[in-house]
Amino acid sequence: MEADKKLTFQLMLAVGTAVIGSLQFGYNTGVINAPQKIIESFYNETWFDRNGEPIPPSSLTSLWSISVAIFSVGGIFGSFSVGLFVNRFGRRNSMLFANVLAFISAALMGFSKAAASWEMLIMGRLVVGLYSGLSTGFVPLYVGEVAPTALRGALGTLHQLGIVIGILVAQVFGLDVIMGNASAWPWLLSFTFFPALIQCILLPFCPKSPRYLLINCNEEDKAKAALKKLRGTSDVSADMQEMKEESRQMMKEKKVTIVELFRSPLYRQPLIIAVILQLSQQLSGINAVFYYSTSIFEKAGVEQPVYATIGAGVINTAFTVVSLFLVERAGRRSLHLVGLLGMAVSAILMTIALALLNQLLWMSYVSIIAIFAFVAFFEIGPGPIPWFIVAELFGQGPRPSAFAVAGFSNWTANFIVGMCFQYVEAVCGPYVFIIFTVLLVGFFIFTYFKVPETKGRTFDEISAGFAQRNVEKSLPEELNALGADSQL
Ligand code: GLC
Repeated sequence: MEADKKLTFQLMLAVGTAVIGSLQFGYNTGVINAPQKIIESFYNETWFDRNGEPIPPSSLTSLWSISVAIFSVGGIFGSFSVGLFVNRFGRRNSMLFANVLAFISAALMGFSKAAASWEMLIMGRLVVGLYSGLSTGFVPLYVGEVAPTALRGALGTLHQLGIVIGILVAQVFGLDVIMGNASAWPWLLSFTFFPALIQCILLPFCPKSPRYLLINCNEEDKAKAALKKLRGTSDVSADMQEMKEESRQMMKEKKVTIVELFRSPLYRQPLIIAVILQLSQQLSGINAVFYYSTSIFEKAGVEQPVYATIGAGVINTAFTVVSLFLVERAGRRSLHLVGLLGMAVSAILMTIALALLNQLLWMSYVSIIAIFAFVAFFEIGPGPIPWFIVAELFGQGPRPSAFAVAGFSNWTANFIVGMCFQYVEAVCGPYVFIIFTVLLVGFFIFTYFKVPETKGRTFDEISAGFAQRNVEKSLPEELNALGADSQL
């Protein structure tokens, strides 16, 4: 059992290298916020050189919205394609090849100014969105498969930690004294080149996923060798046993396509849970804060909104670390519930603060506290848990397709919030966060009644739990059929 909790060098190397992909996703989420005005003036100059007149304001707004939102469009396609790669090339090599996209995007964005082409910048955002969408599948999938059961939650949270550190680094680099200025912004955007390079150097030293080797490739010796490295012990029989058990059950359904995933009653429960948890992450309104915090703070009368935004980034990182330490003790379900409830209360507080701002000036401080609390509660549960719980809810066969569906739901909801928030805010004014409060309460109720605890249970036990529930819900015919199949 002790070996089950050991953080070996190989395990740290594998997880640390993988989450560079998460860092890239976070960096490119946060990077476009601070230099908005500067890049807009580049658009304006380019337009002027081409057409001999300044850019009309409406065209500028559209060009900017496209530059921001095309990232999530890339993410939608990238996350949906995860299944095309991971079974064919393996988890580790898929991460390695994806870096081609990071290099292409860094070149497109980095040379866009020299080439006087906003088209290149927009293309670069699309390509890095594709890369990030793939990462949101590859990373939690690989980490979930190399981690020992007792550390799966803590290591799974590192994906989110990578994301939040990426956002924070982007916020800091985007200050005008660093790279958020007229001459250095192409560097700011193409910085994504360096983490990609580091990941390409390190990945060949990381072991392949033992689950992939055994269950997908049927390479028992290689799986054993990878496990020995990861666990730092020569006795890996317990892990092998568990994987073989999973493999045996998956024999008939080596690869489950997305269509099959939707059809089979066996996967219905976990699929609904996975999708709703993704929606609870995005429709909590977190990215209304991360995309628009500076303007929210400005409206709330905060004097240095950029620094308040960086403050939110720091709180965001700090509480992800808190969750990292709590997740194996308190469990996924309880942390998710606490997080959703805390966010709902913070959203109410924020609404009160924004509504009373004109009467009471000190409400601007309350609004800062409310936003910080909102972010802190997000990272306790709704930030990290939805990402890694997908690996826990599904066995090897349906796991890649499940990641594709979950990632697609997440990125689509992300896109909707990013695109619509400003319009809805224009209509609802200070009451805009009431919408998120209602959604948060709905997600709380769903989690309370439907989401099982997965802490400390093997993948196999978790699937068995769902099968059991299915039996209780009287679906005996299908299960009998499946049971008969797996005995063949
Ligand atoms: C989660 C979300 C991402 C968000 C981030 C904020 O990773 O998926 O969209 O920006 O948390 O920390």
